[in-house]
Amino acid sequence: MGAAPGYSRRAVLRRLGTGALAAALSGCALGPGTGSAADSVMPLRAAAKAGRRRYGAAVSSELLGKDAGYRDLIRRECDIIVPEWEMKWYNIQKNPDRYDFSGCDKLAAFASENGMELRGHTLVWHLGLPDWAKTRLKEAQGRDVLHTWMNTLMTRYAGVVRSWDVVNEAVEPTDDRPDGLRESDWLAAFGTRYISDSFKMAAEIAPKAELVYNDYGTEHNARWSRDRRVAILRLLERVKGEGGRIDALGLQSHLRLGDPWDPKAFGEFLREVQDMGIKPIVTEMDVRADRASGDASAIDAKVADLYTSYLETVFANSRCDTVVTWGLTDRYTFQRRRYADDRPLPFDDDLNPKKAAAAVARILRDEG
Ligand code: XIL
Repeated sequence: MGAAPGYSRRAVLRRLGTGALAAALSGCALGPGTGSAADSVMPLRAAAKAGRRRYGAAVSSELLGKDAGYRDLIRRECDIIVPEWEMKWYNIQKNPDRYDFSGCDKLAAFASENGMELRGHTLVWHLGLPDWAKTRLKEAQGRDVLHTWMNTLMTRYAGVVRSWDVVNEAVEPTDDRPDGLRESDWLAAFGTRYISDSFKMAAEIAPKAELVYNDYGTEHNARWSRDRRVAILRLLERVKGEGGRIDALGLQSHLRLGDPWDPKAFGEFLREVQDMGIKPIVTEMDVRADRASGDASAIDAKVADLYTSYLETVFANSRCDTVVTWGLTDRYTFQRRRYADDRPLPFDDDLNPKKAAAAVARILRDEG
C-alpha cells in the first residue's frame, strides 16, 4: 500500500529534530511487575504524545474505584478514557422519568483530575435503547425524545468530552436493503434521515465537538466486509449530501487472529474516507486469539504482530491521531465472556506490558 507522504508523522519528528524523540524516550518507565526487559515499555500516553497522537482505553468506574493497580495503570497509560458501558442510553435512563449519571459523573471527574479526555460513547445505537424509548421514538414526539437525550448528555459533559460517537453501527448489509442500512428501531421510527438528523442535532448542541460515525468489520478480505466498506462509504456520502457534518470515522477494530485481514483493501478504504475530509480514528481495538495455537508467549507475539500491521496500515493511509483500545489489560476484557483464556489487550493479567504494548508504543511514537 502506498503511504501518502502528507500524512507522515515521522516527517514531523524529523522536522522537530532528535530532541523531541530523546525527551519522549526519557519518559520510559518500568512496568509495575517483574522488571524484565519486556517491562521497559514507554507508557502509551507518553509515546502518543511524542508522536503527536492520543491513546486511550475503555474503562468502568466500578473497576477504577476498587482496583488501585488498574487505576494507576490507566492514569499512567491513557490520555483518553471511554465508558465501556456506562454512557449507553439504557444505563443512564432505564425509566423515562429517572436519569442515573453516577457512573458517567465518576468517569468525568476522573478524566478531569488526571488531565484526560472522556470520549462520548454512544448516542444513537441500535443496541443502546432502553425499552421504553423503542416505543416513544415512534410516536409523534419521537424527535423531541431524541433531542432531549442528546442535549442532556452532550450539555452535561461538554467540559470533558471533545469527541462524540454520535451514531454507532448503522449499517448491516446482510439486512438486504439496497442502501446497506441496518433495520433498527431508529430506522423504523425516523426513516433513513435519522442518521443525518442526529449529526445535525449534535452539531447544533456541540458545535465545537468532534462528531464521529463509529462502526466495525471493515478490514477483511471477505465479501461481508467489502459490503460493509461500501455501505459505510455510502452512509458518509448520504449524511454529507443531507447537510450533516461528520468529522471522523471511528474504526472499532475488534480484530481476531485467523480472520482474513486485508491491509490493501483496508488502506484503500481509509484513503477514500480521508479524501472525503473525514478522519479515520481507532476507537475500540482488541485482538482476539481464541483460534490461535501455542503458549501464551507465542500467542502474545501473534497478537502484537496484528496490532503492528493494522496500526501501521491506519497511519500510512490516513491522518488518524487517536488510538483507543477496548480495555487496557486482559484482566478486564469483555472478550473473555466468549473465551475465558483470551489475551486481546496490551497489558496482561498482572498489569505488565505485553509485546502488544511495546508495538503500540513504537507505532504511536514514530510510525506514519
Ligand atoms: C460492549 C461492552 O464492552 C459491554 O460491556 C456491554 O455489555 C455491551 O457493549 N461495539 C461497541 C461497544 O460499540 O459499545 C460494545 O461494548 C462492543 C461492540
